[in-house]
Amino acid sequence: MVRPDNRPIGVFDSGLGGLTAVREILTLLPGEDIVYLGDTGRVPYGTRSTETIVKYTEQAFAFLVSQNVKRIIVACGTVSAVALGRAKLPPVPVTGVVDVAAEAAAAKTQNGRIGVLGTPATIASGAYERRIAALLPSAETVSVACPLFVPLVEAGRFSRGDKVVELVAAEYLEPLQKAGVDTVILGCTHYPLLSDVIGALMGGGVTLVNPGAEAVQHVAREQAREGAADRAAGSVKYFVTDSIEGFSSSAARFLQRPVDGSVAKIEIERG
Ligand code: DGL
Repeated sequence: MVRPDNRPIGVFDSGLGGLTAVREILTLLPGEDIVYLGDTGRVPYGTRSTETIVKYTEQAFAFLVSQNVKRIIVACGTVSAVALGRAKLPPVPVTGVVDVAAEAAAAKTQNGRIGVLGTPATIASGAYERRIAALLPSAETVSVACPLFVPLVEAGRFSRGDKVVELVAAEYLEPLQKAGVDTVILGCTHYPLLSDVIGALMGGGVTLVNPGAEAVQHVAREQAREGAADRAAGSVKYFVTDSIEGFSSSAARFLQRPVDGSVAKIEIERG
């Protein structure tokens, strides 16, 4: 018998976009307590240097470990791509989104052509290409940095019929369409909200991979082996590094449900 482990799952993101992964935990692992850290005072990470992203990541890990988490999900595409091979890892298991999303894409593609969308830092890291090439050497990967997607989603511009986001998406997706990809990795926390827009432009035969959902499915399998919580319903504690004003409405956008849980502002800078 695997013993229940009722310590919380830590979730880290540069801001509130990682709540798209929390949404998956609430659905798939409803008994788990969650400690969410969104570095809202320093978002975005996607345009920052490797050195800075690594430093912020180590500070975030230290905070989450101080909250007695049993494991950490790095929901942030940028942190997963840029910092996970470089940052000092905490003494609990860490699941990033790159490996699990690359595995899902390699398993799902039929024609071996995979598109990757991400922040400039994620795409510049080459992390997805390397992982996909290791899993499926014959694969052709087409990667596109999409710097305008995060600000558009944050401004609530992500629905089908919104001319601005559709225009921007059409430009970003053109290389993927030309290459004939049949699978697209939505390699940033914010992009699952663009699924309808991206799906409509790519067409019905193209599979979209949601890295946050893949990470949570992976964790659910690990928990089955190592010990999940044994309570019926868990609770969520949200920690942010900027003011909590406006938190509920922004958070609800990414959670796609009303926020239920406590929220507090913390300081995590340590040199
Ligand atoms: N959370 C980031 C990611 O998934 C997007 C926002 C940012 O640039 O920090 O890459």
